[in-house]
Amino acid sequence: MAIVSSSAGSPRPRKEREPNRVVDAARQPGDDLDPAVPASRDDGLRPRCLRDYIGQRELKQVLGIAVKAALGRGDVLDHVLLYGPPGLGKTTMAMVLAEELGVKCRITSAPALERPRDIVGLLVNLQPRELLFIDEIHRLSRVAEELLYPAMEDHRLDLTVGKGSTARTRSLDLPPFTLVGATTRAGALSSPLRDRFGLIQRLEFYGLDDLRSIVERAAGLLALDLTADACAEIALRCRGTPRIANRLLRRVRDVACVRDCSGPIDRLLVDEALTLHRVDGRGLDASDRRLLELLLQSHGGGPAGLDTLAAALGEDPSTLESVVEPYLLQLGFLQRTPRGRVVTAAGRDHLAAA
Ligand code: ADE
Repeated sequence: MAIVSSSAGSPRPRKEREPNRVVDAARQPGDDLDPAVPASRDDGLRPRCLRDYIGQRELKQVLGIAVKAALGRGDVLDHVLLYGPPGLGKTTMAMVLAEELGVKCRITSAPALERPRDIVGLLVNLQPRELLFIDEIHRLSRVAEELLYPAMEDHRLDLTVGKGSTARTRSLDLPPFTLVGATTRAGALSSPLRDRFGLIQRLEFYGLDDLRSIVERAAGLLALDLTADACAEIALRCRGTPRIANRLLRRVRDVACVRDCSGPIDRLLVDEALTLHRVDGRGLDASDRRLLELLLQSHGGGPAGLDTLAAALGEDPSTLESVVEPYLLQLGFLQRTPRGRVVTAAGRDHLAAA
């Protein structure tokens, strides 16, 4: 991916990201799948087995075969790296894998493993064949990463005991385990770490049919009556992302509750709820439109470099690149060219119609 970035002029101070954008794919309090939420408060929208997991056909096929083969051999599942934009079900898939393997899933994230003792504590407490899920694995510290190498390869923990001339290395045997790493930025992983994963799989944005099925399933679990058109409208406006679809569904439920609507929730009511939250017909919100408008109005549609755009928007360039842009690229509203970002004709048409 060729990215040309230049920072003309002095960057504006970085703005805080709009808190809790309803279409932000990053986890928010109240979302299903929040590992910090105790199971009793989990509203149960997450699929628990491969059969209930909708979409990501190829991923399910590859991992389904790997699980079956590991179980058949009585072996541990190879380490798995899942990458792709946020909200597409990486954590869910890790939990599904643990369920299919009949083992516990220990969930953590790289920022929680800052000190060597954090990762040592986790590894020495693993039971045979358990699954360790590390979210945002590209953010692991160097020390944590180096402790993981022999653990992943040889089920061995190499610890340095003592300091200076008295320092010695002690090796500890670990039970065989599966590491599932998740990242939105596969390119930010060091190659020694990446090379230790036997299975590396990308999660794709979901297609409309799968999203419709996900909304229907979630509506059923929440005991909500939605027309087929209402489900399709949420599918169209959730940015290809199940986490956002489920969040939009909850916002629609709020409006339905206060409107005291007696019949099924229809497309009009979905439109009212999503317009209230300023989510447009294709799932774009103010931040997305600002990026496209900036390109159109200040750069004649582009090309413009990532850093230039990020500075003008008060965004972090890597957030812009890994969180905001992927959906605009997927829609074909934005293009990355060797000379920078460009708004497409479809992007221009969408803004003009909005
Ligand atoms: N809820 C969130 N993601 C899902 C998926 N992939 N399949 C079914 N339900 C979901």
